[in-house]
Amino acid sequence: MPFPPFLKYLGVLLTGWLLLCSGAGAAENGKILMVTEATFPPYEFWEGNTIMGIDPEIMREVARRTGRELVIEDMSFDSVITAVVSGKADVAASGITVTPERRGKVDFSIPYMEAAQVIIVPKGSPIRSREDIRGKRIGVQHGATGDTYVTRNIQQPERFPNGALAVAAVAAGKVDAAVIDQDPASMYAAGNDRLEILPDPLTSESYAIAVRKGNPELLRDINSAIADMKASGRLEEIRARYAAMQVKSSAEAGKHAAGGNWLENAWLDLKSSFDVNFMQEGRWKYLANGFLVTLEVSFFSVLLGILMGFVVAVIRATHDKTGGLRFLNALCKLYLTVIRGTPVVVQLLIIYFVIFGTVDVSKVLVAVVAFGFNSGAYVAEIIRGGIMSIDKGQFEAGRSLGLGYSQTMVFIILPQAFKNVLPALGNEFIVLLKETSVSGYIALQDLTKGGDIIRSQTYTAFMPLTAVALIYLSVVMLFSWLLGKLERRLKNNE
Ligand code: ARG
Repeated sequence: MPFPPFLKYLGVLLTGWLLLCSGAGAAENGKILMVTEATFPPYEFWEGNTIMGIDPEIMREVARRTGRELVIEDMSFDSVITAVVSGKADVAASGITVTPERRGKVDFSIPYMEAAQVIIVPKGSPIRSREDIRGKRIGVQHGATGDTYVTRNIQQPERFPNGALAVAAVAAGKVDAAVIDQDPASMYAAGNDRLEILPDPLTSESYAIAVRKGNPELLRDINSAIADMKASGRLEEIRARYAAMQVKSSAEAGKHAAGGNWLENAWLDLKSSFDVNFMQEGRWKYLANGFLVTLEVSFFSVLLGILMGFVVAVIRATHDKTGGLRFLNALCKLYLTVIRGTPVVVQLLIIYFVIFGTVDVSKVLVAVVAFGFNSGAYVAEIIRGGIMSIDKGQFEAGRSLGLGYSQTMVFIILPQAFKNVLPALGNEFIVLLKETSVSGYIALQDLTKGGDIIRSQTYTAFMPLTAVALIYLSVVMLFSWLLGKLERRLKNNE
């Protein structure tokens, strides 16, 4: 069957881009890929555009000794071990507590730091000890040992994506206490004078670096780096240096001299919050870079979606009309059922961790495949609806002009169908653009994730979230406007 010309362009564009991408993330031996969750000072945190902290310093030392380059990726903590197990990363260095369960999955280096879980509460809280938190609202970081401890020994906690957000929830009065690791807790408490840490720790733990099983050389290199850094006192020195750093709290930064009327004060608050969230340390770049990633992912997913959608729709419509293509039709139906029956986040995670589990491909590519395949299923049904809506007489007219089935389809039916379904397609693309906001699950730094990173650094929600929302909104508005223009053009062509 001849392809409609624009589908050919689509195909060429996609293939070119795929070729560009495929080289991008290829595994190179000269690199060590470390994953972490970087809202965990002093072990790992964003400072400007780099991830700093004790863990990066240890791994940088390992990289230096082995003559390799260290590449660090930020992802959610409950994914760091999985990333190592599935071969997405060489090591996870993320203030990881050694536990028997985790030992079953990865190899651990020798421990490099002693740690503990502590309770953090608002200053003057009636909660004074572990006995008091039973029945209260307790915040933890999802998947961390604090989560395990509270779940096993106390009750179901409220699980936040990271410790910083759990602490922010304490500060905002959304939970009564948070259970998190001692060192980050001290940093957070130092940056916020309305919080305090209860003196009795709940656990005693030690941190080690997780390495993929069956990589004895890397494990040995890490162990010897840690041993030397301990012996020379360098590790302690690094820890002291980081611990002395203050976590900047935007609540503090937002304080201004008293006086002035409330409007003026509100304005000053807004201004300083804007400053902290976007201007300081060039934080706006998280949004700008994230926005580009979101655009790239959305654009190519739309292309892939249209391509898949057209092919599937034509197969299905042909089967409906002529009874042919039985096998292909069954395949398409399976595709539609599976894709439409499962959430896109789950599909994204499956494609990343399972399907591309052991191959090293660029994350943008993974996202495009996930969102493109997902969207294709919806596009297919939209277009099939369009095809079915075209009057039967049009087919007969085509045939009587001497055109074959496929020519009739491509030159007579599809163009009319396309015009009819344009509003529905536009809708689908708007949904797709916003759906890409779950890309952060695979540590892709899209627009939403950019806002999250700012949030985790400044502990404010309003500014970063509003900015992210406004950016999505503007893109959707611009797109709707363009679509309206296209619709009018097509109408005038009639
Ligand atoms: N030590 C805790 C654990 O292993 C929490 C670690 C959290 N680390 C982080 N980078 N967010 O479960």
